[in-house]
Amino acid sequence: MTPDGECDTFVAQRSGELDGEVRIGGAKNSVLKLMAACLLAEGRHVLANVPDISDVSLMCELLEAMGVTVTRADHRLVIDVPDELNTEAPYHLVERMRASIVVLGPLLGRFGTARVALPGGDDFGPRPIDMHLQALESLGATFSTAHGDISGTAEVLKGSEVVLEYPSVGATENVLMAAVRAKGRTVIHNPAREPEIGDLIDFLNQMGARVGWVPDRLTVDGVEVLTPAGSGEGFEVIPDRIEAATFLAAVGVCGGSIYLRHAAAEHMTMLIRKLTEMGMHIVADDEGLRATVSGRLASADISTLPYPGLATDCKPFLVTVLTTASGVGIVTENIFVGRFRYIDELRRMGADIRTEGHHAVVRGTERLSGAPVRAHDIRAGAALVIAGLAAEGETEIADAAHIDRGYEDLAGKLSGLGAAITRR
Ligand code: UD1
Repeated sequence: MTPDGECDTFVAQRSGELDGEVRIGGAKNSVLKLMAACLLAEGRHVLANVPDISDVSLMCELLEAMGVTVTRADHRLVIDVPDELNTEAPYHLVERMRASIVVLGPLLGRFGTARVALPGGDDFGPRPIDMHLQALESLGATFSTAHGDISGTAEVLKGSEVVLEYPSVGATENVLMAAVRAKGRTVIHNPAREPEIGDLIDFLNQMGARVGWVPDRLTVDGVEVLTPAGSGEGFEVIPDRIEAATFLAAVGVCGGSIYLRHAAAEHMTMLIRKLTEMGMHIVADDEGLRATVSGRLASADISTLPYPGLATDCKPFLVTVLTTASGVGIVTENIFVGRFRYIDELRRMGADIRTEGHHAVVRGTERLSGAPVRAHDIRAGAALVIAGLAAEGETEIADAAHIDRGYEDLAGKLSGLGAAITRR
């Protein structure tokens, strides 16, 4: 049972062709950072198109632990940030959601002090924050660790040249949210270019920040005061490209024709190109995109890369599609080494997959076979749900709470398209 009283298992059956329309919600990986950015300015911020997922609930808890008041209704968040805040992020919250580390930058930017529990490892292996700290040190912050926490201080943050040796999403976000309050100009070289970074920049600029974006660097002219964003209707979070990818994979294994309302095709160029190469027919319009699959898809090789490359978060879905496609596909993971744990679960369902280091060789089979499996993380869990739609018999996916971290009513949305799936 999840804390919300939801049953903790998805039960999927082999499904026929999918048909109908599904609404894509706001991006998890954007809204969490926008919520952290609110810490930069006293007053009332409003966010719209906020997905009803448990990671948002956790971020609400974290902000509340700092003294912020959050009201949540109808996919909107009203975030009231007081003048004074408790600048500590405790372990029991950081441990449950590693993205909490992103409060470090805004707290240092506004208060010159922050204490955040160090995140531990997870199912993707260790997730270091060395680049976050180096980048913040370039602005003049200093760090010390004790009792499992990292404490940062900065008398004055000074604009500087920041060079990221790798375009880390989290490090880019943290340094950006500190630099908006630094004295003078910061230039961030080799930043992450994900659409969620663009959303954060738009949000910060609406707060009065001065961030400019050219392809290989960000320029940030520090300002003295920021004001709340999202007055009126609220700041609209961009659509979740990873949720959209999940439904594309579902139609990929089941066949049929579905319309993804609010999906942003411009954020999914590489994925659309890859699925088209495999035989999916995708047409985008102003409101979303339609994906049509007739017959079995053909295999293709897949390699994950920082945006605009193929997102590592989409890889589990693509692997699932390959398990039922015709031919052999080689999958290479370049972002998180060891992000292959769900493959053992897919093998239990009859998938033919061999792994070697950060490569997987997937040989398509005509039919998977339903089995009890376990969701180890959000995307791996969703990939198993999709595999269950293509498998003979029943697939029980345990630990569904992992899936709820990033999906609003995945079972309901899939069954709205005709998939045979329930919660138990
Ligand atoms: C974010 C996303 C995650 C996505 C990932 C890559 C959120 C909440 N999460 O995670 O879903 O899969 O981007 O698109 O937005 N690294 C270091 N040192 C650092 C920081 C990162 O070595 O200081 C390494 C990581 O271990 C990893 C790689 O860099 O191998 C990418 O990490 P990063 O881009 O920072 O991902 P996250 O921000 O953690």
